[in-house]
Amino acid sequence: MSLPPASSPISDSAARIFELVTSSWVSTAVSAAAELGVADVMSETPMPVGEIAERVGTDADALYRLLRACAELEIVEESPGRAFSLTGDGLALREDAPDSMRGYARWLGGPDEGSTMVALADAVRTGEPVWEAVHGAPVWQYMSENPRSEWIFDRGMDDLSAQLTRTMVQDYDFGDCGLVVDVGGGRGVLLALVLATHPHLEGVLFERPEVVARSDSVLDRPGIAERCRIEAGDFFESVPAGGDTYLLAQVIHNWGDEDAVRILANCRRAMRPDGRVLLAEMVVYEGVERSHTAKFMDLSMLAHCGGKQRTPTQFAELFEASGLRLNRVVSGVGVGVVEGVLA
Ligand SMILES: C[S@@+](CC[C@H](N)C(=O)[O-])C[C@H]1O[C@@H](n2cnc3c(N)ncnc32)[C@H](O)[C@@H]1O
Repeated sequence: MSLPPASSPISDSAARIFELVTSSWVSTAVSAAAELGVADVMSETPMPVGEIAERVGTDADALYRLLRACAELEIVEESPGRAFSLTGDGLALREDAPDSMRGYARWLGGPDEGSTMVALADAVRTGEPVWEAVHGAPVWQYMSENPRSEWIFDRGMDDLSAQLTRTMVQDYDFGDCGLVVDVGGGRGVLLALVLATHPHLEGVLFERPEVVARSDSVLDRPGIAERCRIEAGDFFESVPAGGDTYLLAQVIHNWGDEDAVRILANCRRAMRPDGRVLLAEMVVYEGVERSHTAKFMDLSMLAHCGGKQRTPTQFAELFEASGLRLNRVVSGVGVGVVEGVLA
């Protein structure tokens, strides 16, 4: 290492790299707060840290240090006497908030995700996912064998579905749709929102049997339950037939091109001739700033499962190989809608 002149200040570049690499501490602190459930016992009125610690079962001094750091992020506010309250943004860390991101924060900072992403350099070296080397089995097999991990993952996905696909739920024109098949739909949060927002629609949730076993509570609501059904299966075998809209939200990004084409071709075979496939995904717009998060999500896909976030051109290629045609890309806040129709 070459030593800098002792009298020179830290360079802007060194300061920038320091800021970038220490940002992982920031996300870890937020995830720890989510994991501990501190926001669930806090409110917008200051509460002494000792009381918060007692309620969530932590060491009071250590919790003070965590909340003091979170105050720097403006998700909590510190008042005299080591008391803390939630800010407006901090409310989204509560489990019961309508815009809760607690589940996603827990997943992202949890051991499954964390131990995968620290091996990103290996994934880049080989071009292959590292999940199996780190966890002993490919992602979905691991989930099936580890219900606790799957529980946390599913709740993280619930949050992403409920928040990031908002533009799609509200703005996509479902006017001439009838039966929406949500392929790999998780616990059905997105389908529930779509059905609640568009009362003329009916829906099918299609998922792995392990996930289906836990989906009832989300879709079992008045006004929704009677318009939908749940089917268990494997989208590499087939998907439910007869729908006019096949929704795949953050599913295709889990897979490499060959697997993605198998899933899409099964949707094409199952759908009505006038139907459509809707991919709700973070779209990478090459060289454009708005795909910032998509480009990092892409690295997460590489490390986890050998999947990827794709550009409109890459989606068009996938569709073409599946007997479909890219009709349009509707970009949204966070997640866009990539629409395919029969070729
Ligand atoms: C990233 S999650 C997305 C879940 C949901 N669409 C959402 O946006 O919240 C991918 C989903 O694909 C499901 N999945 C994986 N392999 C599958 C298979 N072979 N057949 C059916 N579903 C599968 C997983 O169980 C998981 O819920």
